[in-house]
Amino acid sequence: MCGIIGYTGPLEAPKILLEGLSGLEYRGYDSAGVALCMEDSHIHLIKKAGKVKNLKGHCRQQISGSSHSGIGHTRWATHGGVTDANAHPHRAGKVVLIHNGIIENYHELTEKFQLQDRLISQTDSEVAAQVLNELYSGDPLDAICSLIKLLDGSYSFCIMFEDQPGAIFAIRNVSPLVAASTSSGSMIASDLTALIPYTRQYFVVPEQHIVKLTPYKVHVYHLDETFTKDYPEIMTVNWNMDAAMKNGFPHFMLKEIHEQPDAMRNTILPRVNKGLPDFSDDGIPDSIFESCDQVQIIACGTAMYAGMVARAIMQPVLKIPITVSIASEFRYEEPLIDKKALVIIISQSGETIDTLAALRLAHQCGSKTLAVVNVKGSTIARESDYVLYTHAGPEIAVASTKAYSVQLAALYMISCRMALVRGKYTRDQACSFLSDLLDVIPAMETVIAQKDFIRNIASHMIHSTDVFFIGRGLDYAFSLEGALKLKEISYIHSEAYAAGELKHGTIALISDQVPVIAIATQEHVYAKTISNIREVKARGAYIVLLVKENAQVDDSLADIQLRIPNVDDHFTVFPIAAALQLIAYYTSVSKHLDVDQPRNLAKSVTVE
Ligand code: F6R
Repeated sequence: MCGIIGYTGPLEAPKILLEGLSGLEYRGYDSAGVALCMEDSHIHLIKKAGKVKNLKGHCRQQISGSSHSGIGHTRWATHGGVTDANAHPHRAGKVVLIHNGIIENYHELTEKFQLQDRLISQTDSEVAAQVLNELYSGDPLDAICSLIKLLDGSYSFCIMFEDQPGAIFAIRNVSPLVAASTSSGSMIASDLTALIPYTRQYFVVPEQHIVKLTPYKVHVYHLDETFTKDYPEIMTVNWNMDAAMKNGFPHFMLKEIHEQPDAMRNTILPRVNKGLPDFSDDGIPDSIFESCDQVQIIACGTAMYAGMVARAIMQPVLKIPITVSIASEFRYEEPLIDKKALVIIISQSGETIDTLAALRLAHQCGSKTLAVVNVKGSTIARESDYVLYTHAGPEIAVASTKAYSVQLAALYMISCRMALVRGKYTRDQACSFLSDLLDVIPAMETVIAQKDFIRNIASHMIHSTDVFFIGRGLDYAFSLEGALKLKEISYIHSEAYAAGELKHGTIALISDQVPVIAIATQEHVYAKTISNIREVKARGAYIVLLVKENAQVDDSLADIQLRIPNVDDHFTVFPIAAALQLIAYYTSVSKHLDVDQPRNLAKSVTVE
């Protein structure tokens, strides 16, 4: 969602803010703006609908003179269209602010403070700026604390006051913020990518705390306006700037697809002990796996689809109910969980607001929570009882690729450890499962090496308006992610169906204009899947068939086949995922679309 950056210090602020906004572009946005405190203390606002590049051009024309403090923002529209006026920062009297999140009671506040005639934009954020200006009489902390008491919703704000030159204030309620005090000034941002060119040391702004940035210090206050006794823990970034660069690849997505084998090794190998999965270094006790009578997996989007695969792997072995919930639904369905349930939360960013809310609800129900998270120190990681970090490194493309593979790797390891400690696997079976998991890494490499052939497959999709993915069992679980990947970056309507379900309605949509990507890697349902493929082929569909190397396939069945290495049936998701990601990638590239920042989407979904 929205990106935030703030800087105060000896360096030129415009350069830092604009570079920081470029670093935050990957989050997805539609407008950008900066507010700069100039030498005469006047705050100069420049904000524009469109890309950061566009904003940079305006800044070059409009900025004359020096500025050493300022705030910058990339907006992902929620309230009000994509216009210059709705872009942030917003000014009200002496107050200038930027906002990430949603103020749910902005309408009531507009009425209460009679702001109707003063508002220039249609945003909830400008309402907050106006209210803060009403409350401000020279004491920023006092005014911010009073504002917070009036707001409902989730938010982070960075605020400048025209009579407090060089100071930046920020407040966080749910929406993430990280801050750093460096030898070249103080910085704050919605995520680390904006900070790492300047520092590797940072802290996560605690919720319901105010921070004040001055050129050489970041002060942290409780909402009662006293200095906090426990200064937040200083953390160190565990990846370098290279990881956030394209390094010769045309897009982050392609780079991240290629990084998957390494990400898998980094996630799996540190947790292998004598051939078995071992989470003792992660501080995860076996007791949580032994004592539970059900597993509830909760996540959104790709992470939720990783959960669907995990359920198909876990349930037949563990023989306890494994359910998968969409986080935004789980919150409102009065879930039947208690202290005997193990709740597994999956999130790349660790900040997805619905997933975070579901985690909090699981805690209220008394369940133990285990989070599978990629971003170190993120809110979900900090609030879960236990966390198993995936080691994918930063994922910059909006479409998740390597994060999905390592989420699966972590979930497969959890499944194996659970089966072992619950007596469902012998040590030998667990060792063999883990060895099969490691075998998928070269299998993924083999698929990625076929990218030119896959580009050819993608060329058959580009003129289509609909594409269907079909499969049975695990193959259906993979199809869901394949369809999501294709639709989000190619804008082609794509859906996944359980192959056996087609005849109950969906087959009416099949025609010679509709490519069908059929996945048939599961031996026990192979013959049935092939029959379903014949049914769509008979109705004219162009069939792209994904099968194992050793599958016997009648030449007339498919228009084009992609063969994946012969890994065990339970593990085919890994090479298939790489293939489906590449199909989506090349379809988007061939349509000349913005692969890394698809329209309307944001990397980290911090609004409900
Ligand atoms: C799709 C995608 C999204 C995310 C979802 C959850 O490619 O990336 O569907 O998977 O928004 O995000 P996290 O994993 O950060 O909670």
